[in-house]
Amino acid sequence: MCGIVGVVGSTNATDILIQGLEKLEYRGYDSAGIFVANENQGQLIKSVGRIADLKAKVGDAVEGTIGIGHTRWATHGKPTEDNAHPHRSQTERFVLVHNGVIENYLQIKEEYLTGHTLKGQTDTEIAVHLIGKLVEEDGMDVLEAFKKALSIIEGSYAFALIDSENTDTIYVAKNKSPLLIGLGDGYNMICSDAIAMIRETNEYMEIHDKELVVVTKDSVEVQDYQGNVIERDSYTAELDLSDIGKGTYPFYMLKEIDEQPTVMRKLISKYTDETGRVTVDDDIVKAVQDADRLYIIAAGTSYHAGFASKNTLEALTGKPVELGIASEWGYHMPLLSQKPLFIFISQSGETADSRQVLVKANELGIPSLTVTNVPGSTLSREASYTMLLHAGPEIAVASTKAYTAQVATLAFLAKAVGEASGKAEAKAFDLVHELSIVAQSIEATLSEKDVIAEKVETLLGNTRNAFYIGRGNDYYVTMEAALKLKEISYIQTEGFAAGELKHGTISLIEDGTPVLALISGDEAVAAHTRGNVQEVVARGANALTIVEEDLAREGDDILVNKVHPFLTAISMVIPAQLIAYFASLQRGLDVDKPRNLAKSVTVE
Ligand code: F6R
Repeated sequence: MCGIVGVVGSTNATDILIQGLEKLEYRGYDSAGIFVANENQGQLIKSVGRIADLKAKVGDAVEGTIGIGHTRWATHGKPTEDNAHPHRSQTERFVLVHNGVIENYLQIKEEYLTGHTLKGQTDTEIAVHLIGKLVEEDGMDVLEAFKKALSIIEGSYAFALIDSENTDTIYVAKNKSPLLIGLGDGYNMICSDAIAMIRETNEYMEIHDKELVVVTKDSVEVQDYQGNVIERDSYTAELDLSDIGKGTYPFYMLKEIDEQPTVMRKLISKYTDETGRVTVDDDIVKAVQDADRLYIIAAGTSYHAGFASKNTLEALTGKPVELGIASEWGYHMPLLSQKPLFIFISQSGETADSRQVLVKANELGIPSLTVTNVPGSTLSREASYTMLLHAGPEIAVASTKAYTAQVATLAFLAKAVGEASGKAEAKAFDLVHELSIVAQSIEATLSEKDVIAEKVETLLGNTRNAFYIGRGNDYYVTMEAALKLKEISYIQTEGFAAGELKHGTISLIEDGTPVLALISGDEAVAAHTRGNVQEVVARGANALTIVEEDLAREGDDILVNKVHPFLTAISMVIPAQLIAYFASLQRGLDVDKPRNLAKSVTVE
């Protein structure tokens, strides 16, 4: 969701910006633009659609030593060229890119910008007009005007500003939206995500909320809004350029699905010591032991991973687990227990809805743990503790390996806490062994891609809707399976507790409605789900069964190798990920970049 990249002091600013924007594409966007300048002149180029369209417009003609670029995911105003960033002030002297939402933009327009002509409908254009007015009409210097504007603007933002009359500085500020500084030799960069800068540098500096940074080619000065200079150390990130390439894969999603056995094995190595014992940071284990209830807060797929981990956490730690949708809890925090621990699950670590709850938790003094794929992300920095997913960058919008890594990581947490608390069930659960079996089970399912692709063609063809059903952990997996299918194939899909269908929704079943049933775990439970499959088939549904091999019956469609009941949410989701992938592919859609969606959802 909206990406920013900027560079000062490099002789090939245009190339760096375009390459950076390409790396930010995965976040989701519908238009893009760059502003590049040298001492004499600046050029603004914008385009609706893909970065490739922007690149074609830029050609070879645009050169400069400073620039800012942006991918826009429309919030205020349609995805048009006028609404694309960068935006310019009234006299075109100031150029600004922005990620976030300015809540009082209409009030600013009325109060400060009478007589100004705006080209589009965005909140960002109002911000740059305000800065221009403060300098050119009210006589402030640039830094003073930027600070004044920041004191007027309410909402979330990462801003990067260039004064085209003084092209050696980028002015930056942030509140609630991600932005990082990248440090180079003779140049410096800014970016929403380290991934877009790793070609140029692996040394980064954080910016905290309500900080302003003055970036030139050889200096970076961080200040608070009162002008006090803040000393901040830089850090080196372990990102590997080869991690973010697609290699020979047609889509990142398929690559990321295929990486899951490796991710499971990597997690084993990260969360065990040299003797093979499961180890999780003592402080984290103690924080869970001290809590009387665990509250998992997350969004989308990460929320589903929370459900998929609930049974394991409860069984092994003995602590009740409650789930919260981040976008709801931000406004309505339920009655909490005496000693809560909040666990935030987030692939990106930047989800604004989750962050909103974390800010409240911190205000209330509630301890928190973030389980994330991105070290140094906002949710990681601001929580009391962090556990990393070690899944490598996830680029496809549809989350796959992060989900399975989340479930596995929380299993390590459950095991470590249970063992430390002397719980017999935790001691008996050989997670390392069981997760190795899961890795093999995933590999076995991945080797059935052709079979799955064929079944998808027959079952989902031109259908407009579908249902996933399951019981227990399988029910939790149906939520994720349904989200995966609908978000990238646009087939309206619901995940249902198998027994619940007959209480209303079964009226939607008609001739040919696809119903995909997940059946794992216990024979008795499986028999009930099979009964529910019969109910829908009797009403005309086309059923597809995904079944653990020991429960298989003749006619079952996809068999999954048996794994420990605590880990079926990992093995059973793999066929569903592949089903979604092939459904999207067969419909000729852009698997990695489904419409309207963003990878990193940085607005509330
Ligand atoms: C769906 C998907 C989203 C994210 C959600 C939360 O495939 O990826 O539903 O799970 O936007 O994002 P994170 O995990 O980054 O907090």
